[in-house]
Amino acid sequence: MFHAAVGPCVRKRSKPASVSVPRHAVKFKEVRLYLVERKMGSSRRSFLSQLARSKGFIVDDILSDDITHVVSEDSRASSLWAWLKGCGLKNLSKMQVLHISWFTESMRVGMPAPVENRHVIQDTPPALQEGLAPTPMALISQYACKRRTSTDNKNKILTDAFEVLAENYKFSDNKSSCLVFSRAASVLKSLPWTVQSIEATQGLPCLREHTKAVMEEILQFGHSFEVERTLSSERYQTLKLFTSVFGVGPKTAEKWYHRGLRSFRDILAEPSIQLNRMQQSGFLYYGDISRVVTKAEAQALGNIIDEAVRLITSDAVTALTGGFRRGKEYGHDVDFIVTTHEVGKEEFVLRHIIDCFKKQGIVLYCDYQASTFHMSKLPCQSFEAMDYYAKCFLILRLEASQVDGGLTCDEGDNRGWRAVRVDLVSPPMDRYAFALLGWTGSTQFDRDLRRFARFERKMTLDNHTLYDTTKGEFLTARSEEDIFAHLGLEYIEPWQRNA
Ligand code: UTP
Ligand code: MN
Repeated sequence: MFHAAVGPCVRKRSKPASVSVPRHAVKFKEVRLYLVERKMGSSRRSFLSQLARSKGFIVDDILSDDITHVVSEDSRASSLWAWLKGCGLKNLSKMQVLHISWFTESMRVGMPAPVENRHVIQDTPPALQEGLAPTPMALISQYACKRRTSTDNKNKILTDAFEVLAENYKFSDNKSSCLVFSRAASVLKSLPWTVQSIEATQGLPCLREHTKAVMEEILQFGHSFEVERTLSSERYQTLKLFTSVFGVGPKTAEKWYHRGLRSFRDILAEPSIQLNRMQQSGFLYYGDISRVVTKAEAQALGNIIDEAVRLITSDAVTALTGGFRRGKEYGHDVDFIVTTHEVGKEEFVLRHIIDCFKKQGIVLYCDYQASTFHMSKLPCQSFEAMDYYAKCFLILRLEASQVDGGLTCDEGDNRGWRAVRVDLVSPPMDRYAFALLGWTGSTQFDRDLRRFARFERKMTLDNHTLYDTTKGEFLTARSEEDIFAHLGLEYIEPWQRNA
């Protein structure tokens, strides 16, 4: 019985393939597939070939220059490409070399799926394969302040995922894991190309096992299970919601979560919770200040500040900083530096601006903090310490008529104004360059500037000073360029600091 059953099957297989394969109508003449047998195995390969032919695809058993799409189950780029290059093809550069996921999707929709970055198995740069140094990869520094990072993020899918995990670690007060994911995201943001395979990241700094595992999931399946799990967890969602309120940090959010509170309604209905003034305003203006601020709105606020300053003195200097100075289109707030050429008058000007705003009736919230700056407190020892300058955290009322192009409002909102978060900081002019560098950010860029200064130069940098511990002296700087020069770093323009 056994032999009888096997016999015909074996004979059939020995016949030429063309005889046993039923002919199917070709629907996609411009596409010619070749399935790589390695890892796939011969039986799965012939099954998939038949499947594709039945759906109207041309599948060749032999790799030739006629092939348009090479499909591989094995996504290890270096060995696949080494093999492809050894096949003596002339047309290889024109072929699409794709992961099986493209094939599976094409079968599902019954036609060639559009090729996306995640499908492509990229050739590894030759220098990397041969282990040669220095390679362009080796030139990518572990320090964000030695990389140029524009707002054009070519790896948003990966960096968004990393940032979810970083934030979740922040919620658990796990600083080191938070930093691992923030750093990995920052490195990928600086790349002028899109990561399409794990091999392509060989030699990149700051990518640990855990970040690579997440990356591999996303490259293979289009999403990471760990990130999905985090995003759908009640704890993450609740802490994310609570910390979106102005004045609520991770500690307070955690405390509320721990007490079983899950929504804004729960918080506002809980009699034992005493919201501070900042949080009260946070809830009051939540709709407006949780919405992004546009560049046009930031410019309008700049005009309002300049006008208020003009009334007081001709000696003042105002500068837009934060994300908008880095060329971002949107922000969560608008940050300005206000100072005077004459050292010592800056705090007075800041207070006058606020008075002027109050007279105009545009101050919805104001937390003024007087300067505690004194050179004797410096250099600062903590990386993340707040600075000592006079500053003011505000919520201002911005009229639509003041904004070029008007306000972008929700439908049905015809108030004609919105609330905006604004930060003003007032360093003395001789500290201006340090304050500008610190307030321009990004946070990761600043963090790495300080880390670089400390570990590579034995210097201490903060928003006030640069201190050379070897020489035991403070270094003066009139511009950001001066600070980079003291640190022996190439100057990085503000729009290249989006690390
Ligand atoms: P932001 O939190 O405003 O960030 O702080 P951002 O880059 O402008 O981003 P969005 O668009 O508003 O969300 C701006 C910079 O100011 C520094 C921060 O470290 C950041 O680099 N900063 C903020 C200080 O140095 N001191 C402070 O007290 C507050
Ligand atoms: Mn900002």
